[in-house]
Amino acid sequence: MYPGPVVYAQEDDKVIVRVTNESPYNITIHWHGIRQRLSCWSDGPSYITQCPIQTGQNFTYEFTLVQQKGTFFWHAHVSWLRATVYGAIVVYPNNGVPYPFKFPYEEHIIILGEFWMKDMVQIEQAVLASGRAPPPADAFTINGQPGPNYNCSADDIFKIDAVPGKTYLLRLINAALNQEHFFAIANHRLTIVEVDAEYTKPLTTDRVMLGPGQTLNVLVTADKPIARYSMAMGPYQSAKNVSFQNITAIAYFQYFGATANGLSLPAALPHFDDNLAAKTVMDGLRSLNPVTVPKDIDRNLFVTIGLNVQKCRSKNPQKDCQAKGGGVMAASMNNISFSKPNISILEAYYKNISGYFTQDFPGVPLKFYDFVNGAPNNPPNDTNSLNGTRTYVLDYGTKVQLILQDTSTVSTENHPIHLHGYSFYVVGYGTGNYDPDTANFNLVDPPYMNTIGVPVGGWAAIRFIADNPGAWFMHCHLEIHLSWGLSVVLIVKNGEGPLERLPHPPKDLPRC
Ligand code: C2O
Repeated sequence: MYPGPVVYAQEDDKVIVRVTNESPYNITIHWHGIRQRLSCWSDGPSYITQCPIQTGQNFTYEFTLVQQKGTFFWHAHVSWLRATVYGAIVVYPNNGVPYPFKFPYEEHIIILGEFWMKDMVQIEQAVLASGRAPPPADAFTINGQPGPNYNCSADDIFKIDAVPGKTYLLRLINAALNQEHFFAIANHRLTIVEVDAEYTKPLTTDRVMLGPGQTLNVLVTADKPIARYSMAMGPYQSAKNVSFQNITAIAYFQYFGATANGLSLPAALPHFDDNLAAKTVMDGLRSLNPVTVPKDIDRNLFVTIGLNVQKCRSKNPQKDCQAKGGGVMAASMNNISFSKPNISILEAYYKNISGYFTQDFPGVPLKFYDFVNGAPNNPPNDTNSLNGTRTYVLDYGTKVQLILQDTSTVSTENHPIHLHGYSFYVVGYGTGNYDPDTANFNLVDPPYMNTIGVPVGGWAAIRFIADNPGAWFMHCHLEIHLSWGLSVVLIVKNGEGPLERLPHPPKDLPRC
């Protein structure tokens, strides 16, 4: 199935999914946005929390949806397999707990995706070796369908049959691999009510932008003249000079009574490089209710996010600064380009096996390339990042603030940074270099998210309390950046109490 089956559940449910790998490739499944309270073993990123499930093998994921409800998705977390291996997770509120908005007439899942004609593992290898940006997807898809521009798919275009006057809840998921996307419905406004499976104050807009890994619930009311309206996704591309697919995928929001073969009214998507349109929605996002934002921060990390071309001059280039997969492109956080170990970090940490990772991820950049303020005209001589499997270790209960700063010696770009195991408060963000004197934080009702689009050439500040023990991946959800090394692992130690400890690994945990 493409997309894969929907997992339906209810808040606080225990979810058990037995995954059998019938593909020729190793695979793992990640439950994106599920916080995996005391169940890091079921989180899924390959070589971070588990070895992959090999062909013909199986593994049972078990986790509880502790105080979580809303729209999530699951996806493969090995190589680039998530391009086609994904599906929605819908978690309803507890019995008798209403939505904080008028109950919709119907709900629909809308997954934005990218379709590729070739084998994803081979594409990843070829792209890494080429030293170039990835080729564009062959098509964009809405619920697996590219729309009327492709004759062979014309009969299967995703369609919502709308009853005039009724309100619909759309669960939007961006499952695309390497592209951020705008989404709009012709002539209709969208009211955002939930972001990353947390309620927001209602925010009405003409269109939304989702980075890969983001989910968004919107309400739309069929209050326009009877007709067929298009629902469209199209690219948001903030990096300069890269090739991408400037096409739209189309689905229909079609009123009962509209002629099916009549022309549909086109949706107005912003221009692909409209940074303002991408940022405007974020500007209005607020948690529905006042929240308890961690104050008196214990650890304040400054983390740069960047891409660079490796010019390795080290004595030991293979180890220190050879770019991934034989190419020259690298991506890093604080100039450390993450190398995956060949056993899982969680297992190595839990069993105290040394030699697979170190605990010395720097809390500040090794070097700060001030690309934002003009470095492109005056590039530093040495822009290399260093390879390493360096983790950052946090005591249980640490109040953490991360300042994520986009800097790059190649091109700045809006990066959707995703943290596993937690949601975090986005207390501030802006363009340019972060400046504590001018940053204006929202400590009252900031949005509570798991994937934050760090604005192109800008920064974002996030806060959370490290109270879920395990090894948690934090990475750019643009898959090519992850391949180039744009990630880090945060290890959170056990606490003292019985409900503050990571349990033993499951018996069927795959071996490497
Ligand atoms: Cu949806 Cu590690 O990602």
